[in-house]
Amino acid sequence: MSHEKVVIIDFGGQYAHLIASRIRRQNVLAEILEPEAATVDLMGDESIKGIILSGGPQSVFDADSPQCDPAIFKLGKPVLGICYGHQYLCRSLGGEVTPGKIKEYGRAELQVTSDCALFKDIPEKSVFWMSHGDEVTQLPEGFEVCGQTEACGHAAVWNQEKNLYGIQFHPEVTHSEFGGQVLQNFLTICEVSGDWTIEKFFEEEKQKIKEQVGDKNVFLFVSGGVDSTVSFAFLSQILGPERVKGLFVDTGMLRQGEVDFVETSLKAIGADLTTLRSADQFLGNLKDQYDPEKKREIIGHTFLDVQQEFFSHNDLHGDWVLAQGTIYPDTIETGGTKHAAKIKTHHNRAPEVQKLIDEGKIIEPIKELYKDEVRALGEFLGLPHDLVWRHPFPGPGLGVRILCNATEEIVDIAPRGMGQLNAFTMQEKRKAFMVLPIKSVGVQGDGRSYRHPGLLKIDGFDLAKQEQLATKLINHYKEINRCVVMLGQNFEGSIKRIVAPKTCVDADRVEILQRADHIVTETLVEQKLYSDVWQFPTVLLPISFNDVGQETIVLRPIDSIDAMSASVGKLPQSFFQEVAEKILEDKSISAVLLDVTSKPPGTIEWE
Ligand code: XMP
Repeated sequence: MSHEKVVIIDFGGQYAHLIASRIRRQNVLAEILEPEAATVDLMGDESIKGIILSGGPQSVFDADSPQCDPAIFKLGKPVLGICYGHQYLCRSLGGEVTPGKIKEYGRAELQVTSDCALFKDIPEKSVFWMSHGDEVTQLPEGFEVCGQTEACGHAAVWNQEKNLYGIQFHPEVTHSEFGGQVLQNFLTICEVSGDWTIEKFFEEEKQKIKEQVGDKNVFLFVSGGVDSTVSFAFLSQILGPERVKGLFVDTGMLRQGEVDFVETSLKAIGADLTTLRSADQFLGNLKDQYDPEKKREIIGHTFLDVQQEFFSHNDLHGDWVLAQGTIYPDTIETGGTKHAAKIKTHHNRAPEVQKLIDEGKIIEPIKELYKDEVRALGEFLGLPHDLVWRHPFPGPGLGVRILCNATEEIVDIAPRGMGQLNAFTMQEKRKAFMVLPIKSVGVQGDGRSYRHPGLLKIDGFDLAKQEQLATKLINHYKEINRCVVMLGQNFEGSIKRIVAPKTCVDADRVEILQRADHIVTETLVEQKLYSDVWQFPTVLLPISFNDVGQETIVLRPIDSIDAMSASVGKLPQSFFQEVAEKILEDKSISAVLLDVTSKPPGTIEWE
């Protein structure tokens, strides 16, 4: 059965996903199409009830700005252009766009000026979010203005007869007060009934999967993350647990209690899960390894070795197909479109995997879903709430959160308060931060950086201020790419000596980090703050201050939507104090630091 749907023409990455997920929350299927593919796909497809042209980062004046076939305006379907899409729509139909005299970013008050269906149930004045330099200055024939802001006379326009609408503001962002209502009004204009629900998805997908799998069995690797776990539970329910085999690899670098938690949760719903206890193999391979990229590579290869060994002892050829928990953004972002430069290739779409997908040897039961829909499906399948709503956790696990050091570094701080590493620094810098003798990964400009963290010398607890200062300092001083502040310490007095011993990943260090990480999660849950942050890495640094303890813990609370950019999770000071005190009960810990770096210039993970 085909659902009624609205298609989003993707003029630039993340904007399109945000619009699509907002539309789906109103129970209407939204699909993303590349501008180049659009007209052919749209023609004659009765299930398409409306078209949205997304915003995008480019200007319509750029030579390589994305274009779609203007014929889509003649299909007789309602069209809504947003931001770039609005300008593109107006320009394509004979209107004029010019670089705006005033560039509008952020909050703007929209005044509704006519009785347009797009603004039904919206007050005459309300706040919408803007982000544009160019603006529509002359309307195409048949169009009239229906909304304006102080800086933008054509903030909303429509052609009533043809059902064409253009808005300069972004209804999809949560900061737009009545953004959801604008999108809902557009759906009413499209005359959709709202037939997209998780229950229906389950029923329809069930049929498809049964046909696709035939009489074969299914095998998949479970990481404990939401996507693979929901895929596994979904397949187990559809095909029966005897036909679906899950393999969970214990790398020895999982969170405290993770193996039990995943096993118990999945076995509770009747799934057939095998855990391979491969900690020795992973930790053995990481012995004497110090380089972050090399560590990742080793972890990746060890996964492959473990899987190969499993295959060689279990005959999984012939009657088996492989499943993976790919979700909708992963499939779209690897689409190889003209605009692919800014988009990553997901490992579930590597060329060799794509070949297997084309041959029908891999199934992806949740590839149509966004993360929030995957979670809804997980709840529908009866998975525990805590499992379905857990924070993302990286594949290489705590391995990328245990920093290593190939040679011992010692910094003796001279009485006037400067260390060897920053001996060359200027007066003002000495006041602002101290360079720590360890390096972490960051993202500055187009590439990744590998530089020192700066320990801010700053009083008070104002995370927003510290985050701002961090950005300024990192932009200015090339030897640092992230900033931390001191939350608590097991040493006395001011910092006189910092030692970074030679060390790599080993079972003892994993255990130290697991304990600290567990304290963070437990306290987040106890203080009902777990869902206030998107992710919360805890990182282990081989750093000892004043020769007290051998390790330092860094807390990295993250506020983000998609991990592409992130800011510091602004949790209350009392939370950080409690966590730091508990962590410092372990006397092998010298200090607890808080990372106050946004992404960019820092990355979320330290390696
Ligand atoms: P960064 O550090 O690049 O992280 O800002 C962005 C998001 O990706 C996660 N991450 C990974 N996830 N395998 C994964 O499955 C990896 O190798 C990996 N590295 C980073 C990270 O936790 C964050 O959510």
